Amino acid sequence: MIDFFPGLEGVPAARSRISYIDGERGILEYRGIRIEELVERSSFIETAYLLIFGKLPTKEELERFDSDLRHHRRIKYRIIDLMKCLPEHGHPMDALQATVAALGMFYPAKDVTDEETNYWSVVRLVAKLPTIVAAFARMRHGDEAVKPRDDLDHSSNFLYMLTEREPDPYMARVLDISLILHAEHTMNASTFSGLVTASTLADPYTVVSSAIGTLTGPLHGGANERVVRMLKEIGTVERAKGYVEEKLRRKERIMGMGHRVYKTYDPRARILHSLAREMRERYGEMPLLDIAEEVDRVATDYLKEKRVYPNVDFYSGIVYEKMGIPEDLFTSIFAMARVVGWLAHWLEQLKDNRIFRPTEIYVGDHNLHYIPIEERS
Ligand code: ACO
Repeated sequence: MIDFFPGLEGVPAARSRISYIDGERGILEYRGIRIEELVERSSFIETAYLLIFGKLPTKEELERFDSDLRHHRRIKYRIIDLMKCLPEHGHPMDALQATVAALGMFYPAKDVTDEETNYWSVVRLVAKLPTIVAAFARMRHGDEAVKPRDDLDHSSNFLYMLTEREPDPYMARVLDISLILHAEHTMNASTFSGLVTASTLADPYTVVSSAIGTLTGPLHGGANERVVRMLKEIGTVERAKGYVEEKLRRKERIMGMGHRVYKTYDPRARILHSLAREMRERYGEMPLLDIAEEVDRVATDYLKEKRVYPNVDFYSGIVYEKMGIPEDLFTSIFAMARVVGWLAHWLEQLKDNRIFRPTEIYVGDHNLHYIPIEERS
């Protein structure tokens, strides 16, 4: 009898050198470097290089990668036209998935054995995702998409394309840190889904669009939007305790809490929480943060026996909300960061690819016979 592992819990799907989680101690490393150190000293683009190409870049390598990215941020007017046809009430993640799938038709990259083509696919995907997210966010309200500016860094440029104003450098740095924290996370659901697609040697645009689709779900990246909605629904710090107790009594989940691998506080949530506190000191009141801290306190107290603690999604939305980013864009920002992890895994897997073809345990019937429709009850 073959063992069955629901959710494939504990089943390795790859050998990887990209990132490492110690879920007992709350440690996350990218290529052996602790995220706390990267957040302190690196940028999202340098971290992207580290994850995708396997080492910290030299000054020249970083300059070239950064310049390639800056020069590939633009999207063709036909892609803009295509996005204009999408329903304005549609979710931005669905728009992102559809547009990324279409990108593959504009930049054919079917030969995944060609390293040069793969490099430019990496550049295009990392560079263009923020442009697509910002363009949809504006066009759905009837505004023109704002063209990217080559003189701005990755995160500042994204905030600029959203608002048409140069962002506060502190806010841009906070976004950059958040992108570092979301860039990669071992064999999570969206990475696995991308890798299943990649294992057929499908092109990277198809790989990334599969992964985006998987990230949309409320049990994965979709949780960050729901956390903010939950905090707004709670409304005041005083109501937080009752809300949590009622949810748990009804055996419902508190969004932004719990993780398959972390059995302690998620280190990314810790960093985002301290950034949120810093923002409150800097800019004044953040009522959602006050409520979140109370939910965290009460829920963690109830759930610590099950080893359920806040995950990365718990505080990220609060930080984006303070930046003035609309709630339904939060998961798309997650995708703008995680595209790096998806691509790193895609390139790693290509070196030793085997098509994913798991098995199943059949629990159905045998030897039944066809019954004519008029005889069926
Ligand atoms: N609220 C309340 N209870 C919870 C929560 C939660 N958020 N998460 C887990 N639990 C409880 C479960 O009810 C279960 O209790 P039981 O043993 O009494 O039945 C126990 O903890 C174990 O939970 P599982 O569902 O077995 O954990 P699993 O590893 O399958 O799920 C998941 C992990 C999906 C993240 C889950 O914790 C969850 O649904 N969280 C809320 C959604 C969320 O925040 N998702 C984002 C995850 S991080 C990311 O994708 C970026």
